Amino acid sequence: MRITVTVDGTDYTDDVEPRTLLVHHLREKLGKTGTVVGCDTSNCGACTVHLDGQSVKSCSVLAVQADGCEVTTVEGLARDGQLHPVQQAFRDNHALQCGFCTPGMIMQSIDLLADNPNPDEEAVREGLEGNLCRCTGYQNIVRAVRDAAGHMRPGAGPEAEQVGEGQPAATGTGVGGDA
Ligand code: FES
Ligand code: FES
Repeated sequence: MRITVTVDGTDYTDDVEPRTLLVHHLREKLGKTGTVVGCDTSNCGACTVHLDGQSVKSCSVLAVQADGCEVTTVEGLARDGQLHPVQQAFRDNHALQCGFCTPGMIMQSIDLLADNPNPDEEAVREGLEGNLCRCTGYQNIVRAVRDAAGHMRPGAGPEAEQVGEGQPAATGTGVGGDA
């Protein structure tokens, strides 16, 4: 089937197999390897992208379902050489170790902040419960998301303008209460 998908602001038209998963289309056809595969069974959240503004696990979406849609990956977040505030907060708060979960964590975090611009710790953990991290114990991830929220609220400065930047609302998943 021939599909056209806008990915990180660029239109791509390709022939795909009906069974091709969106994550494989992004990585293997379009070279968007910033989106990673951790499980292929919808458990880890590492493959999270935004599909028409909603966070989705791209291993659970067929490429053909994205036909005519807009996809944002972690590679499409920076603007003019500036990291997205959530990316910057992950960096500032040492919210990653191996980094494998980070693309999905960041995409889901942006989505949860679009829904709740001022989440408390519990809300962050709930919002990220579908994204698994084997390294960090989650504490610094939660700290980073709340730090980003502070920078993204209206009146927080130029970064605040990047908040919605084309990747809208979220779905719930989460960093369960461990640490
Ligand atoms: S690779 Fe998609 S949820 Fe793990
Ligand atoms: S930083 Fe290694 S899995 Fe999260």
